[in-house]
Amino acid sequence: MSLIEYKGFGGVVLAADMLGDENDPAVLLVPDIGQSRANWREVAEALVLSGRRVVNLDLRDGTDLAPHIEDLRAVLAQMGSRPVVVAAGRGSWIAAHALGLDDGTHLAAGLVLVDMPVDDVVIASAAATRLVLPTLAVRGGFSPAEASADSDAFFAALPLGQSADINDCDLELASDRKEALLGQLLEFLERRQPREAMEFKAGSDPRTLRDAMGCFATGITIVTALDAEGTPVGLTANSFTSVSLDPPLLLVCIANTAGTAPTLREATHFGVNVLQIGQQPTSNRFAARGEDRFANQPWAPGHTGVPLLGSSLVSFECQHESLHEAGDHFILVGRVVRAQFEPHRDPLLYFRGKYRRLHFA
Ligand SMILES: Cc1cc2nc3c(=O)[nH]c(=O)nc-3n(C[C@H](O)[C@H](O)[C@H](O)COP(=O)(O)O)c2cc1C
Repeated sequence: MSLIEYKGFGGVVLAADMLGDENDPAVLLVPDIGQSRANWREVAEALVLSGRRVVNLDLRDGTDLAPHIEDLRAVLAQMGSRPVVVAAGRGSWIAAHALGLDDGTHLAAGLVLVDMPVDDVVIASAAATRLVLPTLAVRGGFSPAEASADSDAFFAALPLGQSADINDCDLELASDRKEALLGQLLEFLERRQPREAMEFKAGSDPRTLRDAMGCFATGITIVTALDAEGTPVGLTANSFTSVSLDPPLLLVCIANTAGTAPTLREATHFGVNVLQIGQQPTSNRFAARGEDRFANQPWAPGHTGVPLLGSSLVSFECQHESLHEAGDHFILVGRVVRAQFEPHRDPLLYFRGKYRRLHFA
């Protein structure tokens, strides 16, 4: 993160944090009047993790809108590329006016208004009709200046003629509003300011199908059992699915060629250990051939004797329920007899052939 300065209206210096790779598409964060860039910091970091360059701006002191509007236009003119402007509270007033003075598209690629307060319905409607930029209006309690009931007038006046882009969402019912806001924001940015040009691939050859399957993000599990000699065996598997609650059933798909397949076919019980973010080495070890997978692996027998891996996010102990042949894999269905989990850890994720982590908790 680096600190930069922009020249505002009348030579006023405006400080901003600059985060992320300069080649990534830019987002300009504008706080509410009376707040500072510290209010956007968490969002800024999540945006950087999603491949955005972020400029997190401080406004000048004062509640008079006119200098703020000129400041914002000056900052946008100094930025190397047209950002999506994301503004909160009365900051969204400033942004809507700054970008509604002319068509705004030469200054910004899009506009996100978070909790825009509306005091004067007539002015609000006039400002809204001038906006031609792709605009997302979100009400969701991010800023202390909650949107008033009259904000409906603003949203109603947004020019729906051009409005495939206009999306008025109410996040008030979302359980975690900041997380819901981030989700909306990232979806809008991906749609309006994609990091790379969209490129759809199609086909039915094995490579295309494998890559298409890899677009389904999963967690990672280690499936374990005891072999006939009572020795623990296990393999990495992301084909885990919850199947039924009553009775409690889950499944994993196991390759017929896997070294552990004969044991898993025969075992009366098996374990499914969902990995947490610190267990990437465990995932690698249980997917590699020729390794003594349990050599340095802490584990303990569960109630049914199945090996459960210490420090996993979740461990399910299952009784063999059924087995279904399915091409070069078999589907192993287990009846859960016991589950133990640790709710405070992040999961280890897998997406398009790579390990991933949650962008925000
Ligand atoms: C992220 C990841 C997910 C995997 N998912 C599965 C799976 O769902 N089913 C499966 O049979 N193999 C899966 N594998 C491959 C097995 O882990 C691997 O082929 C197996 O451990 C090979 O060793 P083995 O033949 O000695 O058992 C996965 C591997 C990785 C890295």
